[in-house]
Amino acid sequence: MARRMGDRFRYLLLMVVLTLWPAFAHSAEKKTEAELRNFVVQDCGSCHGLTFKGGLGPPLRPSDIEQLPVAAIEAIIREGVPGTAMPPWKALLTDDDMAWISRQLKSGALLEKTR
Ligand code: HEC
Repeated sequence: MARRMGDRFRYLLLMVVLTLWPAFAHSAEKKTEAELRNFVVQDCGSCHGLTFKGGLGPPLRPSDIEQLPVAAIEAIIREGVPGTAMPPWKALLTDDDMAWISRQLKSGALLEKTR
C-alpha cells in the first residue's frame, strides 16, 4: 500500500514537472526578432537616440561605428564601458541576441525597419 502511494506520488510529481516545464523553459528562450528590435529601439535608443543619431550616448549609425568590428561592438554591449553611462547587458541578453544586435547596428537594417 505504502509502496503504491509512493509510485502515485512520483507519477504526480512527474506530471507536474512535465506540465510546468514549458513555462520555465520559455524564460530562457531567445527573444523573437520583433521583441529584440523593440528592445534596441526603446532601451538602447533611450541613450543613443531613437534613430541612433546620439543623445547621452554617441550615435550608432553604420557610418558612426565604421571603425568598430562586429566583435568589438558585441564586447561593448556585453561588458558596457566602465566609468561611463554605458551599462553591461550580459545579464539581460543572450550571446545570440548581442551578436544579432551588433550585426543590425553595423548594417543599419534596424533603422530601415523603424523609420
Ligand atoms: C544609460 C545610457 C545608455 C544605454 C541605455 C545604452 N548605452 Fe551604449 N553607450 C552609452 C554611452 C554614454 C556610451 C559612450 C561610452 C564612452 O564614453 O566610451 C555608449 C557607447 C556605446 C557603444 C560604443 C560606441 C562607440 O562609438 O564607441 C556601443 C556600440 C553602444 N553603446 C551600444 C549600445 C547598445 C546596443 C545598447 C542597448 C543594448 C546601449 N548601448 C544602451 C550609454 C548608453
